[in-house]
Amino acid sequence: MPGILLETLRGKRADKVPLWLMRQAGRYLPEYRALRADKGGFLELVYDCDAATEVTLQPIRRFGFDGAILFSDILIIPYAMGQNLEFLAGEGPKLSPKLVDHALSSLEAVPQRLSPIYDTVAKVKAGLGLETTLLGFAGSPWTVATYMVAGEGSRDQHDTRAMAYRDSGAFGAIIDAIANLTIEYLAGQVEAGAEAVQLFDSWSGSLSPTEFERWVIAPNAKIVAALQTRFPDLPVIGFPKGAGEKLPAYMRETGVSAAGLDETIDPVWAAKELPANLPVQGNLDPLLLLAGGKALESGARRILEAFVDRPHVFNLGHGIGQFTPIEHVENLVEFVRNWKS
Ligand code: CP3
Repeated sequence: MPGILLETLRGKRADKVPLWLMRQAGRYLPEYRALRADKGGFLELVYDCDAATEVTLQPIRRFGFDGAILFSDILIIPYAMGQNLEFLAGEGPKLSPKLVDHALSSLEAVPQRLSPIYDTVAKVKAGLGLETTLLGFAGSPWTVATYMVAGEGSRDQHDTRAMAYRDSGAFGAIIDAIANLTIEYLAGQVEAGAEAVQLFDSWSGSLSPTEFERWVIAPNAKIVAALQTRFPDLPVIGFPKGAGEKLPAYMRETGVSAAGLDETIDPVWAAKELPANLPVQGNLDPLLLLAGGKALESGARRILEAFVDRPHVFNLGHGIGQFTPIEHVENLVEFVRNWKS
């Protein structure tokens, strides 16, 4: 008997609305902060399979979410493609050499940097009850490329958008290389025990419509098709953050099995514009979870009501913030669990 999250992602409306939160393992949890301090850094935590397993399971134990998401990061792909990766306190991730001034061919791939991630997936799977769905993930090629090109996060993805216009051949080769490795990486996660996967496209909102077709929709469609050939029943959640009115085209053309919605999408609009049987996931504003109280309840209620007629996975519209009070998360879980249509 699959858990209610997997059932919902496969297109059935379960008796209850399943719930998990993006970035549910992380700094808002004291038990995460303690383990991270102990290991010394974020990458040390990711590459210690027992510790990464423990971190993945922490929010499941505390809140009983319906999904456990592998503890790792979207930047493991550039790391395996041969860039150096550092997470500096207060500065965010740094990748080097950056592809804005170094050719892709100057990188030497280090594929063994992916193997420990599969070991973590297998360990998590062994520690989870059947009712909890194990989610794998990767970044989408466009979002990963923005970090590889600029060497860090950037406000409007300036360097990468400029490169895509200036030298679309070289940029297309970067996108293809990321997409091809991402297919193998996600297939490896599924073989190790992931039951569904999510493609995070955090920066898809910065592209014009024609560029969106080329750098977001096309490579994601390729990844989805390759995965579905290998694993016909695998749900793939697409999360094109900031896609706005381009969302229906993204969902139709990529072939993803479920629509991850950010908090800027009106759930009433989405319920009308997306195909009736398409599972949706989202989309409470993470800041409403930070704020808590009655506003949190009415925001959650509005989303639950809008999606009452279709398969719906409750989630945030983006990752949970590090200053979110745990009590607010407990209140949200209780609210969603007790909600009746
Ligand atoms: O959802 C989960 O709990 C699974 C784990 C996960 C992490 N990052 C752990 C993490 C996932 C799915 C991600 C995705 C990710 N990583 C994205 C896409 C989603 C999004 O949030 O937009 C992006 C853009 C990244 C890149 C990244 N990783 C940044 C920009 C940062 C630094 C900013 C920050 O929040 O600290 C990270 C670090 C990171 N990845 C942390 C965690 C828990 C914080 C590390 C720490 O402990 O200091």
